[in-house]
Amino acid sequence: EQQQDLVGLHFVITAGPTIEDIDPVRYLTNRSSGKMGYALAKQAIARGAKVTLVSGPTNLPPVPGAKMVNIRSTEEMLQGVQAAMADADVLIAAAAPADYRPVEVFNHKWKKSDGLPNIVLEETPDILATVSRSRREGQTIVGFAAETRDALTFGRRKLESKGLDLIVVNDVSQPGVGFDVDTNQVVVISRNGEVDKLPLMTKANVADRILTRVKALRNSVGGG
Ligand code: PMT
Repeated sequence: EQQQDLVGLHFVITAGPTIEDIDPVRYLTNRSSGKMGYALAKQAIARGAKVTLVSGPTNLPPVPGAKMVNIRSTEEMLQGVQAAMADADVLIAAAAPADYRPVEVFNHKWKKSDGLPNIVLEETPDILATVSRSRREGQTIVGFAAETRDALTFGRRKLESKGLDLIVVNDVSQPGVGFDVDTNQVVVISRNGEVDKLPLMTKANVADRILTRVKALRNSVGGG
């Protein structure tokens, strides 16, 4: 029997990739499967939380009991997260939003006879940074960092620059870690500098460890 330690808390969880269209048939995206975010949503519900799952396109079935918000682009993910944050206690951003999008989306399929397309990119909005700037008292914000080198250094930098309470760092260059696998190996770093290096385990178990850290953090600052 799962401990119901998250009753009364509303978690907003992001999952999966986002998609940025180039033309009606082509787009930019990444390898995120949504498994990490869906595992967080599933475990949070099992522990009694209310969950809004803001998800990019994945092949995963909806999580029973979660309010599903299905989006496509990073801009849409931002809108979905902002709307859900009005009534949320915790945001966990496990999604891999596209960082760049074409400035212009071609109305018609680009043809080879048109020559090489000149695709100019711009940055998408940073969801975490935007939401953390307007956060309400008592809201806990957790980010992920997907790195392929110097993971802890870059992870700490993201914790600071995005104004997070906790960051979950994964070195996605390692086998069995990160994108599109059922396991993960993460280091959880809190704003006060506490570092928790976890072994390789299933994403369900990683999710439970993260949720337990969030709960402890909220108890220690008198939230929840
Ligand atoms: O989906 P899976 O296949 O299970 O893979 C899991 C995962 C590798 C996607 C997951 O463990 C993970 O690391 N998620 C974060 C991926 C990512 O975008 O990392 P980042 O270091 O580029 O971004 C840092 C943080 O900012 C993340 O919390 C991200 O959600 C957030 N972000 C990124 C871009 C953006 N425009 N807005 C954001 O809020």
